[in-house]
Amino acid sequence: MSNVLKGTIARYGIRPDTRSVLLRAFALLVCVSIWILPAGAQPAPAKSAVATAHPLATRAGEEILAAGGNAFDAAVAISAALAVVEPYASGLGGGGFWLLHEADSGRQIVVDGREVAPAAATRDMYLDARGNPRPGITMDGPLAAGIPGEPAALVHLAKRYGRLPLATSLAPAIRYADEGIEISRGIGMGLKFRAEAARKSPAFAALYLPGGEPRQAGATVRFRDLARTLQRLAADGHDGFYRGDVARRLVAGVQAAGGIWTRDDLAAYKVIEREPIRVQYRGATLVMVPPPSSGGVVLGDTLNILRAYDLASLPSVERKHLTIEALRRAYRDRAMYLGDPAFVSMPIERLLSPWYADGQRTSIRLDRATPSDNLPGIAPDTGGGTNTTHFSVLDKAGNRVAGTLSINTWFGAAFIPPGTGVILNNEMDDFSIKTGTPNGFELLGTAANAIAPGKRMLSSMSPTFIESPRGVAILGTPGGSRIISMVLLSAMAWMDGVDAEQMASLKRYHHQYYPDVVAYEEGAFTADEKAGLEARGHKLELSQRSFGNMQVVTWDRETGRVDAASDPRGGGEVTVY
Ligand code: DON
Repeated sequence: MSNVLKGTIARYGIRPDTRSVLLRAFALLVCVSIWILPAGAQPAPAKSAVATAHPLATRAGEEILAAGGNAFDAAVAISAALAVVEPYASGLGGGGFWLLHEADSGRQIVVDGREVAPAAATRDMYLDARGNPRPGITMDGPLAAGIPGEPAALVHLAKRYGRLPLATSLAPAIRYADEGIEISRGIGMGLKFRAEAARKSPAFAALYLPGGEPRQAGATVRFRDLARTLQRLAADGHDGFYRGDVARRLVAGVQAAGGIWTRDDLAAYKVIEREPIRVQYRGATLVMVPPPSSGGVVLGDTLNILRAYDLASLPSVERKHLTIEALRRAYRDRAMYLGDPAFVSMPIERLLSPWYADGQRTSIRLDRATPSDNLPGIAPDTGGGTNTTHFSVLDKAGNRVAGTLSINTWFGAAFIPPGTGVILNNEMDDFSIKTGTPNGFELLGTAANAIAPGKRMLSSMSPTFIESPRGVAILGTPGGSRIISMVLLSAMAWMDGVDAEQMASLKRYHHQYYPDVVAYEEGAFTADEKAGLEARGHKLELSQRSFGNMQVVTWDRETGRVDAASDPRGGGEVTVY
């Protein structure tokens, strides 16, 4: 840089005394710019760290970093490995959002590999002749599946951001699929839960339900078709999945079982790069995912409402009451306004403006819950599941990835097109199939999230970075509609000074506007807090569903310490080295 300056000085024949003033000014500028550089663009961490939901996925990430890959190569290796070792949660038949930070440039971007509705999809495709939802149809079988985005995202990540060839980063996953993996307790549980739907898919049943019964934990299964599909992707890139033999098999299998995919749908799939949403809160910047995920808007809206309260000085019951009230209002906006930006215009600037939050705060009372029905209703047509996965990676150059990937609920649509080994997603259930009809996560929606050909269904996936003078946190979790409140609680806890371990293990509670209940984990509230919340009119419901599987990496700039933590609720593993 200083050579550039010297060259400029020489070229324009600037006098020596003016030169020294300029050189001093330049030195000052460098110092100032180092001081004000965005949190992410500062010196590199001393260690790499990986946190994923499965030990073999963490090892795949480690292997690729050790082979000279960067965090983006590791993200490809981890995502592909998760497709094999956590087949009920994410995979080539699904999609996700990868939030990236490039250390060199400070550039941050969201790779949107969300599924899209096939061209033959229609707004009322899941309703019967009377306009009532047909049960199960958005959940099981190929009609429930959107066109997958994960394979395209992996190719994009490797090509655009990686240092290693795609084939190198896919190698661990191919090895796992080819050599086989042990059926974990998670897989066993998922199979029991999905057995009925899965029996209707011969290719799924042959792999997972030999003799009609779910495989038991401990058995080893080789995934030869999946290994072949991964090899095609490694050899031919994007076209290896979206055109040619794999595409032909996918479409043939889907159509033979009553699905509506075509070769054109696959050929048309494109990854989209999006600018993250950034919100400031208590001196930190949260870097989050924009629509078609609702994560960034709902988190931003919630934090904007909360920022006016001095939460630290309030009794804990009031703090929790206010958090619930903020979530109630932000999730209402999710239902009302959010969808795929290519199809709906959304008032995002308004939803994230301080004035909007001021307005929302006026209806919040400290002594009483606002019944959701008292909020402006969601306009009548303006117009359990438990799986998904998250990983967090930081490399020694300071590159970061937060990736949340999904096929939606346990084993997605429980359907494998023969000869592909690819479990299809059931993300079509994330659309609002009818205003007022809740989806599998009891979320409401309106026309903004109605089905249309080529449209991306609204997501709650929220891979997030928090950047503050203290350092950086990379986090996210599965959990359907609860993802956003889980990320919120852990983000606020990080800003209060907790470490990665505490962020991942924190006891959680949640409100999503509808149903008008506070779901909570045992331990999330003390007896006094429960009494205080109930006295304010909150309906508390001890959760039967698992509250996520958070993966966190933190880098403390003051101490230089790099930490990682995997949610004690799951079977994940971390590595820091
Ligand atoms: O995109 C979404 O919001 C959902 N498909 C995520 C599903 C999920 O997290 C299920 N996990 N427990």
